[in-house]
Amino acid sequence: MAALAGIGAIALGSASAFAWTAGWIGGDRLTAQRIVGAMEANGPAHPGFRRNHAKGVCVSGTFRGTPQGQALSSARAFSGTPVPVLGRFSIGGPNPHGADNTARVRSMALQFGGPGEPQWRMAMNSFPFFAVATPQAFHQQILAKRPDPATGKPDPVAMEAFLAAHPQAREFGKWAKTAPWSDSWANTQYNSVNAFRFIDADGTERFVRWSMQPRLPFHALDAEERERADADFLAADLHTRLAHGPVHWDMVVTLAAPGDAVDDPSQPWPDTREQVVAGTLTLVHAEPQATGECRDVNFDPLILPPGVAASGDPILATRSAAYSQSFNRRQREIALGRGDAATGTEPTR
Ligand code: HEM
Repeated sequence: MAALAGIGAIALGSASAFAWTAGWIGGDRLTAQRIVGAMEANGPAHPGFRRNHAKGVCVSGTFRGTPQGQALSSARAFSGTPVPVLGRFSIGGPNPHGADNTARVRSMALQFGGPGEPQWRMAMNSFPFFAVATPQAFHQQILAKRPDPATGKPDPVAMEAFLAAHPQAREFGKWAKTAPWSDSWANTQYNSVNAFRFIDADGTERFVRWSMQPRLPFHALDAEERERADADFLAADLHTRLAHGPVHWDMVVTLAAPGDAVDDPSQPWPDTREQVVAGTLTLVHAEPQATGECRDVNFDPLILPPGVAASGDPILATRSAAYSQSFNRRQREIALGRGDAATGTEPTR
């Protein structure tokens, strides 16, 4: 009898642990399901597409590390031998058909390493720091942005209450109001925003953030150009540039000094920190995401090779969980034929 009770207790314990992990129990626990569900509830459904940064194009090329990069991390990408790169450019927002001149944020996602090699995936943004420090605050921000059915716009009272509770988000708001809009994915800088650890061949660890800095000079769209810009001007511009040759970025790694925030992406580091050019990214080809390989990749920022490790930043862990939720949902929709991310058409429902 006691043995049976023991087995029952183990079975119940496993079932509870599974249900907790799946987010079925646990009361107010904030899960990736709840975060992605809140994102979905803020606008129309786009089955088969990413729940954020939905509009984008696939790209490919190579990355070659420098000896300075190799001194910081034993990752194969810094060995000096070029590694294959599969990537994706996107704009911020959940609408796969949104006009490029309605989104200020530009993004670059990369996967270093070919089949059978250790993979390094990253997803970077043109903003230099994040709006909030915690997943809970990010969730609150999504709820505050929910369109009011009466106006179709977020409720200003809810947004003000969010900002009062999370004052650092006002800094991001200032960036989002004033930062110039780049006129090309190719001349934009993309930032890791979250901190990571680089581990060298001797096992020494350093906290870092990195940026992909374009070799092309930044050029901003003025208000009139923005008004006139075609809805898909970013992809058209990229195709034109790549038809004339490769486009390059330098990977610039910034080293944290003692006391710098390594677990809070809303806190930028002083711009006096030591920086190292760790490698060069060369992109040679672009194709629509509908037919490109990047459509079915989850650019989870915690898929890291030996030589690179996560920081304790809770946003980073939440990103990993949320991207996997979004990936599973969109791949399931594609498999079930609900929405056709391959052709860009969507069923009405
Ligand atoms: C808790 C905070 C965040 C959450 C919950 C979140 C959520 C998401 C989700 C659900 C996706 C779609 C993933 C997919 O279906 O593959 C996504 C994409 C993306 N996110 Fe985040 N995100 C967060 C923070 C950030 C930060 C700090 C950055 C920049 C450094 C960032 C950059 C990106 C980029 C570049 C993509 C597009 C990746 C691609 O091309 O596949 N996100 N995010």
